[in-house]
Amino acid sequence: MNKFAENIHKQTEGLKPAEALTLLVDAFPGQITFSTSFGWEDQVITHMIFSNKLPIKVFTLETGRLFPETYYVWNRTMEIYGQPIHAYYPNNEALEQMVNAKGPNSFYESVDNRKECCGIRKVEPLNRALSGNKCWITGIRADQSLTRQFMGHVEWDDAHQLVKFHPIYDWTLDDVKAYIKQYNIPYNTLHDRGFPSIGCAPCTRAVQPGEDLRAGRWWWEDQSKKECGLHEEIFKA
Ligand code: ADX
Ligand code: SF4
Repeated sequence: MNKFAENIHKQTEGLKPAEALTLLVDAFPGQITFSTSFGWEDQVITHMIFSNKLPIKVFTLETGRLFPETYYVWNRTMEIYGQPIHAYYPNNEALEQMVNAKGPNSFYESVDNRKECCGIRKVEPLNRALSGNKCWITGIRADQSLTRQFMGHVEWDDAHQLVKFHPIYDWTLDDVKAYIKQYNIPYNTLHDRGFPSIGCAPCTRAVQPGEDLRAGRWWWEDQSKKECGLHEEIFKA
């Protein structure tokens, strides 16, 4: 972590998530953005941003392969809060080229193909979404996986040259569920059907009781290769 991120770490330590977000808005005026995949962690943060009218740009990476339930909760969130959620789409030429050459489900065939698909549908749009920003908010929590336990609530993202901040990093899943219930926040109903972590439909399945929360993501791959390029640093742990 560089000095800049260390400083943010010190300033935000012990603050409640909404207090930390307010502090960051002042520290990075107009250069702070939040990525949502409409999972329940993200819905908690969206609620904090929208109900406090915090000037943080909320965006989603619309891969084109999301679950119908995800589009439903996205739409419901816009209806309830009446505030914008910016969608970033893949570059159409790159996508057409890949699908025309390899078919729509090439990601099952090899890790390289899967990374190519994530690269086109998520990573390149993410780079566009983050450009010009100095602070990136996410819904990552420590207990989502072993690798995420060692990250801390603040990171320096060298690739994007910005501070990455995870406001509910220390929350348990029960904390998240209780907050959703308390404020009657819309959430993805797949969570009630064994999906603790929700990504693209063809690459996400339900998990069994006792399995890792992210075991249903790219389940056919070797554990060590399960990264999509959004959060590279988790694999350095
Ligand atoms: S992933 O790297 O495996 O896809 P995960 O689903 O755990 O990540 O989500 C962690 C955080 O990454 C979310 O809280 C959100 O901030 C961001 N994120 C993941 N997928 C998307 C998406 N499609 N659009 C925007 N942000 C996303
Ligand atoms: Fe493609 Fe699956 Fe990655 Fe979504 S999660 S971008 S469908 S490989």
